Amino acid sequence: MGTHDNSQYTLFKSFSNKGLSLQNRVVMAPMTRSRAIGNKVNSLVAEYYSQRNTAGLLITEGTAPSANGLGYPRIPGIFDATQIEAWKEVTAAAHRGGAKIFTQLMHGGRIAHTANMLQGAEIVAPSAIQAKADVWTDTLGQQVSESPREMTQADITATIAEFVSAAKNAILAGFDGIELHGANGYLIEQFINPNSNTRTDSYGGSPENRGRFLVETAKAVGDAIGFDKVGVRISPYNIYNDMDAYIDTPETYRHIVRGLEDLGIVYLHVIDRAALETKEGQDLMAEIRQTFTNTLILNGGYDAHRAEKAITGGQGDLVSFGAAYVSNPDLVEVMKTGQEWAQPDPSTFFSADEKGFTDYPARTAVPI
Ligand SMILES: Cc1cc2nc3c(=O)[nH]c(=O)nc-3n(C[C@H](O)[C@H](O)[C@H](O)COP(=O)(O)O)c2cc1C
Repeated sequence: MGTHDNSQYTLFKSFSNKGLSLQNRVVMAPMTRSRAIGNKVNSLVAEYYSQRNTAGLLITEGTAPSANGLGYPRIPGIFDATQIEAWKEVTAAAHRGGAKIFTQLMHGGRIAHTANMLQGAEIVAPSAIQAKADVWTDTLGQQVSESPREMTQADITATIAEFVSAAKNAILAGFDGIELHGANGYLIEQFINPNSNTRTDSYGGSPENRGRFLVETAKAVGDAIGFDKVGVRISPYNIYNDMDAYIDTPETYRHIVRGLEDLGIVYLHVIDRAALETKEGQDLMAEIRQTFTNTLILNGGYDAHRAEKAITGGQGDLVSFGAAYVSNPDLVEVMKTGQEWAQPDPSTFFSADEKGFTDYPARTAVPI
């Protein structure tokens, strides 16, 4: 395939909607990269985001709101003063290129191993059900996630407070907002999915109850930093991280999306790949689009052409790109000029240094 001129795509036009103004509609999807030695970002991480700052919006790698949220090794946190200070270099690097930057608040819940956690931290989840999922540890190699302790009401209140405090820290660090990670089988989705949540209180059982932890967290965070600074990521029909399928998925997300719409959060970010595989899921996506009136970001296997079709067809407002952003730091330019994507090397996705992180070259614009 040769190159061709995509520069007229709406994907590359600026975007402005209720609190979100972006230089284009290309979003870098959140990606854990495991270079935050000591749970703190550093100049290497700042360089990585700097190389990608021509995007409209950068969403950071999953970042722990608290010590209990740190299930993986070398994941950054945003719960202490030195972590906040370290993030300032990253937010400045994003803004230098005109990108906005949100940090993804990711609490691992039961996807965790104590070998990755700080002294005194604890693995907690809605129910004491162990996940059949592997977790890498630097000291013991690959391990199975450990069994969590069931959260009490007091734990739930405290965990929501941790998200609030992390969100305030994010603003101090210069972020334009935060994204709550409600996808991919981590704590928030562990509440949403009845296979990992067998609670009998108001946080378990009905679709409304299972969505409550997410909606309450979004409300508390929005009350603290403003709803124009709060995005939420969800992945209906996700089975990753031992999230088994369940019968009332549409009903569950109907409640969640209605709740988030009523709060007026700035964006909803949906990994739609699994949903689009079935008629039921396609209908759910159409319904989500109708219910949620602020910015909708789509993700999961999009390329420039498909992203453009989704935006002009009205299925979403913005599209996020994950793997492509690993190996194409100037993805906006690459897509504009119709160049083929460089392929990423999965063996260095989660390694500890610059190899496979900051050494993918930007491609100079080719003449069209
Ligand atoms: C190396 C890697 C790390 C990822 N880490 C996260 C993460 O921390 N949080 C998250 O929500 N999704 C994470 N994802 C999922 C991506 O955000 C995205 O949903 C997925 O790659 C599908 O989009 P794509 O087809 O454009 O790559 C990760 C994906 C990759 C490849």
